[in-house]
Amino acid sequence: MAAENEATEINPLDEKQMETIISNALKAIEETQNLKEFQEVKKLHFGETSAVALASKAIGKLPGSDRAAAGKNLGKARAAIQTALNEKQVILEAANEARVLAEETVDITAPTERALSGARHPLETLMDDISDYFVSLGWDIAEGPELEHEWFNFDALNFDIDHPARQMQDTFYIDGTTVGGTDPADGHLVMRTHTSPVQARTMLQRNVPIYVACPGKVFRSDELDATHTPVFHQVEGLAVDKGLTMAHLKGVLDHFAKAMFGPEAKTRLRPSFFPFTEPSAEMDLWFPQKKGGAGWIEWGGCGMVNPNVLRACGIDPEEYSGFAFGMGIERTLMLRHSIADMHDIVEGDQRFSLQFGTNGKGN
Ligand code: PHE
Repeated sequence: MAAENEATEINPLDEKQMETIISNALKAIEETQNLKEFQEVKKLHFGETSAVALASKAIGKLPGSDRAAAGKNLGKARAAIQTALNEKQVILEAANEARVLAEETVDITAPTERALSGARHPLETLMDDISDYFVSLGWDIAEGPELEHEWFNFDALNFDIDHPARQMQDTFYIDGTTVGGTDPADGHLVMRTHTSPVQARTMLQRNVPIYVACPGKVFRSDELDATHTPVFHQVEGLAVDKGLTMAHLKGVLDHFAKAMFGPEAKTRLRPSFFPFTEPSAEMDLWFPQKKGGAGWIEWGGCGMVNPNVLRACGIDPEEYSGFAFGMGIERTLMLRHSIADMHDIVEGDQRFSLQFGTNGKGN
């Protein structure tokens, strides 16, 4: 149309032609559907090469006497087109805004796919379950430090100064501390090799009767392989009261075994030795789901608290007796869920945890 305009000689005195210019422009403006079309039409009918612009130039060439009439015609045309443009612009902008709002509406009720935020490790949930179990018996949960005085880890538990468990190849000693603590004040520190030091701490801190379970992390200088890891977990049980016997110990162990492994599970004790229990026993678990058929599997250690330990912790062994037990939580988890390789437990791959019903969304 611009070409058309240029080709046509525009005469601003020609009212008919000026009317046509107006009606062409108004029609084009009216037909625009969106702001983009509007801008093009505006340029075409009101821009530098538009008919009105050419008419304006043509006025300059007219004799002075005709200019007023021509200017009037042109002014009328410009005003009409300008008004139409203004009105249409308001309408199109409003429509555009409504469209953008509709398009960008966010449905806040729509379900979303949330990013994985980490899954609880099955060891953690099992430790929670174990704690819940002992709380349901009316026991307390006790804790102790992972960086432990050698005295609590060994001496208070009646370990001889030359007991093999104190050797460097089993125990992580902390730099600058030497083997053979005789007092917590001497500063010899180890990464605790079992949760049994919590027994000593508990007996020193609490009044009898004592019924506590102590789940926690322990450390031994083992290589990581399918069944070992240098950092693992145990749960310790300790009961000190008047008249406790091994029958009470056996009853608690059987009941705990059933809670962990189902109604057919039970335990069996085999004579053993621990410095802090007398008599001592290895505890086997009757494991109905054992591969290749039900059978006995070693589960932990236990025994009656050694009178020397009671005495070291200020409890009169003539008046009170106690029992204690400890088992590995990794082992319990592996048995419960037929996990063949310790690497799966320690490597922290979420896909492993997700199999245990932890959904990775904070549950
Ligand atoms: N602390 C022992 C271990 O780690 C287990 C145990 C606990 C034995 C309590 C007897 C009583 O092997």
